[in-house]
Amino acid sequence: MLQSQHNAISAFESGLEGQSPNILNSLKRDHDLLKSLYQEYNNAKSTEDQERIAKEIFKGVGIHDKIETLVFYPALRDSGTEAGNNYVAQSLSDHENVRSTLYELNVLIEDEGEFIEHSEVEEKEIFKFCRKIFDDKKIEKLGRELDAMRKTGDIEEMDSIEKTVV
Ligand SMILES: [Fe+2]
Repeated sequence: MLQSQHNAISAFESGLEGQSPNILNSLKRDHDLLKSLYQEYNNAKSTEDQERIAKEIFKGVGIHDKIETLVFYPALRDSGTEAGNNYVAQSLSDHENVRSTLYELNVLIEDEGEFIEHSEVEEKEIFKFCRKIFDDKKIEKLGRELDAMRKTGDIEEMDSIEKTVV
């Protein structure tokens, strides 16, 4: 397990601690943490445990959705490449689906498969693409911006924010 289940929420809020800022590592850390929370949820022995883990997943997906939409996708879009724009368009529509179920915890929990798919596409395709178009300095700068945004803003504001970044 990456983090103790009790501090998963604070990990989502603080980002990469004790490591140099890196947007790709920071997003990958969220993916890994969420995958392990889904696993814990599936193995939970009591309803109480399930509820607690579900809340952590709920919070984690919300923060991940927010920082990708506000920092990661605008940076990809600003790269001015066609592939970057296509990734952004596809990702935003995936996120819209996530957001429409975000307030229904049970539905979100059933979406484990979709989340796994999201993380695979990002890690295997989009992050790889980013390493080609962003230099180390840019990856570090974006990582700093991304982690700074984890604690701010509100999930409810996302739909209106998204319209301004697209
Ligand atoms: Fe992601």
